Amino acid sequence: MKMTLENVTRVFREEKKKIYALNNFNLELNMDHGIYAFIGPNGSGKTTLFKIIAGLLFPSNGSIRINGEKYQEKWVKENISMILAGDRSLYQRNTVFENALYFSVLKQINPQEAKKLIVKYAEMMKFTEYLNRRIEGLSSGERKKSAILAGLCTRSKLLLIDEPTWGLDIDAVLSLQQFLYQIANQQKTTLFISSHDVNFVSGISTNYIFMKDGIKKRFINKAMDSQELIDAYKLICGD
Ligand SMILES: Nc1ncnc2c1ncn2[C@@H]1O[C@H](COP(=O)(O)OP(=O)(O)O)[C@@H](O)[C@H]1O
Ligand SMILES: [Mg+2]
Repeated sequence: MKMTLENVTRVFREEKKKIYALNNFNLELNMDHGIYAFIGPNGSGKTTLFKIIAGLLFPSNGSIRINGEKYQEKWVKENISMILAGDRSLYQRNTVFENALYFSVLKQINPQEAKKLIVKYAEMMKFTEYLNRRIEGLSSGERKKSAILAGLCTRSKLLLIDEPTWGLDIDAVLSLQQFLYQIANQQKTTLFISSHDVNFVSGISTNYIFMKDGIKKRFINKAMDSQELIDAYKLICGD
């Protein structure tokens, strides 16, 4: 699947000032299943870019094409899900299972099939014992896993995960790393991960898109350990 982002621009107006969250962002990706890491400092436009790809926000200018075709709302709904940063995206008083069922049915998955998917993915994630727990009683890491479980059960081809390590402790980060690697490679899902955490993304991704000031600075496709990635980051995104 080829995704082409051409001159994607998003302007926000704050009082009389114009803020270019994205400023002629260009990228062509021949996506195979796997993890694509979007790396850049705070304010570089990662969240805005993900929201535009997920159809949650319109660009002020520019376009997205899939295999050369115009980006269609229906296609986006059926094939793309975004997991927002933070841990308030799920219904707090409902259980992990109820949330996953709700979001997959919203994405037109048949409820019987959705239930099977939830059980299957929860097992893979070693998360079965949490299915009947309410979100409000879970830790940040457990909430993040719940949101990812719900995202997976929508059967989306492309999952966008904004700042997956936000609020997680070291153990939760390590287990999430393992889990994301596993779903990308075993479930043939494409994951876009935004992060400013180079330690987290090195080791699970070999595709790095460096962003700064709303533009793509570089796309590097090769395995890098965390030190190499830190050096590349400083060189590309440093002041
Ligand atoms: N709704 C908004 N209103 C005004 N400015 C915004 C809004 N959303 C994002 N921005 C601005 O756009 C820039 C990029 O933000 P964002 O996409 O959140 O970056 P990142 O996710 O890389 O930290 C920042 O300067 C931010 O303040
Ligand atoms: Mg962000």
